[in-house]
Amino acid sequence: MATAHKPAGIGTPLSRVDGIAKVTGEARYAAEHFAEGVLYGVIVSSAITTGRIAAIDDAAARAVPGVVEVMTHANRPETSSRDAPYQDQVAPPGSPFKPLHDDRIIFAMQPVALVLADTFEAARYAASLVRLDYEAAPHNTDFAVSLGEAFLPSKPRDNYVPPKARGDAEQAYADAPHKVSGEYHLATEHHNPMEMHATTVIWEGDGKITVYDKTQGPQNVQAYLAGIFGFKAADVRVLNPYVGGAFGSGLRPQYQVHLATLAAKMLERSVKVVMTRQQMFTHVHRPEAVQNIRIAADADGKLVSIINNAITSTSRYENNMENVVPWALIGYASPNASGDYKIAPRDTHTSGDMRAPGAATGVTLFEIAMDELAYEAGVDPLVFRETNDSDIDAMNGKPFSSKELRKAYRAGAEAFGWADRSAAPRSMRDGSELVGWGVATGIWDAQFSKTSASAKLSANGHLEVASAASDIGTGTYTVMTQLAAETLGLAPDQISARLGDSALPTAPVEGGSWMAVSVGYAVQLACREVGEKLLKAAGKVDGAPLGKAGIDDVEFVGGTIRLREDPSRSVTFVDAMRAADLPSIEAQATANEGPLGIGGMVSQMRKSRHTHSAIFAEVKIDEELGVIRVTRIVNAVAAGRIINPKTARSQIVGGVVMGIGMALHEETFMDNRLGRFMNHNYAEYHVPVNADVGSIDVIFVDEHEPELPLGIKGVGEIGIVGTAAAIANAIFHATGRRVRSLPITIDKLLDE
Ligand code: MOS
Repeated sequence: MATAHKPAGIGTPLSRVDGIAKVTGEARYAAEHFAEGVLYGVIVSSAITTGRIAAIDDAAARAVPGVVEVMTHANRPETSSRDAPYQDQVAPPGSPFKPLHDDRIIFAMQPVALVLADTFEAARYAASLVRLDYEAAPHNTDFAVSLGEAFLPSKPRDNYVPPKARGDAEQAYADAPHKVSGEYHLATEHHNPMEMHATTVIWEGDGKITVYDKTQGPQNVQAYLAGIFGFKAADVRVLNPYVGGAFGSGLRPQYQVHLATLAAKMLERSVKVVMTRQQMFTHVHRPEAVQNIRIAADADGKLVSIINNAITSTSRYENNMENVVPWALIGYASPNASGDYKIAPRDTHTSGDMRAPGAATGVTLFEIAMDELAYEAGVDPLVFRETNDSDIDAMNGKPFSSKELRKAYRAGAEAFGWADRSAAPRSMRDGSELVGWGVATGIWDAQFSKTSASAKLSANGHLEVASAASDIGTGTYTVMTQLAAETLGLAPDQISARLGDSALPTAPVEGGSWMAVSVGYAVQLACREVGEKLLKAAGKVDGAPLGKAGIDDVEFVGGTIRLREDPSRSVTFVDAMRAADLPSIEAQATANEGPLGIGGMVSQMRKSRHTHSAIFAEVKIDEELGVIRVTRIVNAVAAGRIINPKTARSQIVGGVVMGIGMALHEETFMDNRLGRFMNHNYAEYHVPVNADVGSIDVIFVDEHEPELPLGIKGVGEIGIVGTAAAIANAIFHATGRRVRSLPITIDKLLDE
């Protein structure tokens, strides 16, 4: 089956199909759904970090006109008290937080009450009147202190890849002529999607609920709510047709969906709960990290030893782990390498996945050390990386399914003008500003996850494709539309894509950059089946213009099936369906094991599958004031076949912008006396704004990927990986000052 004419198929820069709905406001987010007689729930947050609630006085809150209930652990309805139902699809091992479960407080600003009223204003005012007495217990939120308790859990997280040592890294390090040893640090970061975590629960009666939730996985939330509250899964329908960004914060069900459902069950009414921006800083966050790196090279600038050790923060009650360490051992061809990883518990909410979890930390910090060693060895930092690039997965000894990183280095260097760089620090300037050019490498997984999709062709020739996938702004609607267009030769306006509904065919959470390839392939399989049924139906058309043609003998173009050998012999979809007396043609398919046995655990794969990038950064720094501007970024990406150059570019640009935040701005400060994140607002937690972002040039190099369906790798995360290192390295080149702690705020550039 092939299509000669591809109006919107793979490779077309189709504008996102949900774009108009978004800019006109027709797209509704979780808090924007109407529910008859809805109650507004406002969350009261704990004033202590650890301890217990000793007393609750809700009299003043209840006296506010319009207040219907003040729900706390003391009066809530029955829920499961076991851990298992709270362990959602992506929960790390441990004992998950159970909102309003009992009097225990285990992290700062933990929800302790939900005030429900007829109006939001009444609920918010009443929430300010709820009085709680606490018995505080000692806490530790200081990462530096928690390092003393760091450990490697005996039961690791599902996707954890243990670092595998080779050779004798200690001896090789000791013997080498060029070496770098350093402690590198990444601050805690919080996801800051535009849309706050929000839920509207519609009480349908008869024990049924419809839940609009901000989530990256409607079926994950469905199973969570059904398990905890004792609903039948079929009676809980979770919808997330539009999500205003998430970056990982919506992978696990957040506490507002639990509270809204708890209140709906208690009062048998519809309930809406929206976190405040401050409360967005009370749950998941990128773990704080420290990485101890020792690397060494021989006289020719070849790596001879990598010792890559890291510790990241988690909570006291769950063991969140990341793959921080393995990347450097996989990508670089040092004959000796070792890695060590531990987690350090502190009294916070559990840390979790944030865009490229593990790699955004571990690759970025390692790439700063690589730059240091390049200088120490007297080799150009780009040449140093090219010299040490490994053609096979150096940690596992497996071939890569594809790795066109060298092409990315070359294409990026050319676009950036790297050849014009003068090597010495402080050797380039522009007026009163120091100029610096830096480079770094990025690496991320190219994953695939089992996904189902359906396709339904109606008698009028309109095609609907559907899956319980999510589109968190990444372009899933558009990718589904394009794969359907590619397979059945239809124009985008003849296709509707549906997603974000737990009632649709099974899909995983949107994460790990696996959604485009996974749901794209599922849509293609379902559409292929529709195509086969269409061909069969075409046989019933008078005179059988297609003869005995098989599926490989025909192509689908503009709503017709035609012979590839003789395009004048064709049947329209509509005529075929009419002749066969079919009001519609439907099919459902599951993309699981591909033709080459894809899917399954990373450790079981025959080949190592990754995306790669080469990032080049230019900074200009005011010499007197230390103000840093990132004036140019070139990010050259090798990510297989690009389904949509426009939406893919958007993903890389978004990742680069987050990389600028990681390099210069984003840091959640902890007040260790109170045990609270202090800068829990947009005034004090800086995400890059337009003024912080200069030119961003995205290049996709040609890469043939034979293992993944259609040769597609994901691009949602690779854009952030390494970007902050390229900037940090440019800052060194501009100033001669090496900063090993991100973000590089101005104070770190000023003399003491
Ligand atoms: Mo991503 S951190 O897998 O949403």
